[in-house]
Amino acid sequence: MRRILTSALTVLVAAAVPAAANAQLPPIPQLPVSSSSNFQDEINHRIDDARAQVEDITSKAFPQKAPKQKAPTPAKKTEPRNSGGVDCANCVAITYDDGPGAETNRLLDKLKAKNAHASFMVLAPSAEQHTELLKRMKAEGHTIGNHTKSHRQLNTLSYEQVSQEIDAGNAAIKKATGQSTRWVRPPYGATNATVDQVTHDKGVSQALWDVDTVDWKDRNSEHVCSSAVQGARAGSIVLMHDIHPTTVDAADCVIDGLRAKGLEPVSLDRLLRTPAAGKRYYARG
Ligand code: NI
Repeated sequence: MRRILTSALTVLVAAAVPAAANAQLPPIPQLPVSSSSNFQDEINHRIDDARAQVEDITSKAFPQKAPKQKAPTPAKKTEPRNSGGVDCANCVAITYDDGPGAETNRLLDKLKAKNAHASFMVLAPSAEQHTELLKRMKAEGHTIGNHTKSHRQLNTLSYEQVSQEIDAGNAAIKKATGQSTRWVRPPYGATNATVDQVTHDKGVSQALWDVDTVDWKDRNSEHVCSSAVQGARAGSIVLMHDIHPTTVDAADCVIDGLRAKGLEPVSLDRLLRTPAAGKRYYARG
């Protein structure tokens, strides 16, 4: 009996192992050398990354076990859970700057109802004022990024001044959520070698964008939606602002429109799992 069981197991393992062995193991990233990065946070991030990598490998090795992705059906009342597939090939990061504010909770409700994820690039004073919103963002799987303390053009400042702007944002996020952010969004996209150096030294990455909806300018929901959806391709980072009611009004249209194109709105941490410190990201790839 034992012999039969053993050979049955051998057959099972033999069937499974070659498929698993063919799956490419991604390189293990080095821990960034940073004077101020929080070691425990880094460990937590690495554990999340490892978990995601195991998920990818498992699904490649055993594709029959992965749920089949259905064509997007935005008209349906209940949105299907869709995190962009295991390898996130069709993912787009939708990002909201300058909050949190009076409109942010309404946006979080919309994202939750659609089962979509986003990133919030917060200003330090607003983050300090609305810690409950940051806690909700974290709890619901969104990425929180640092949009600095006073929204100055970082490329006009000294190393020390850039450092202070970033430190204040990092501290506000850490205080509200207990977790450090990986992302800084330089206001106006204004960056230079000094900003590269400061972000590198602090172990954070620069989240820029390849799709600018210019939602702050005309405050028109239809324009926000069409520029986001028409501009986005797989791997895009879309810039919006959650302080404008017209942008929040457009959220359903943006999510449905992206899904109709076969794209899935996700958080930055989902789109870019292991960003390099100091690097400028305009999109994935
Ligand atoms: Ni801004």
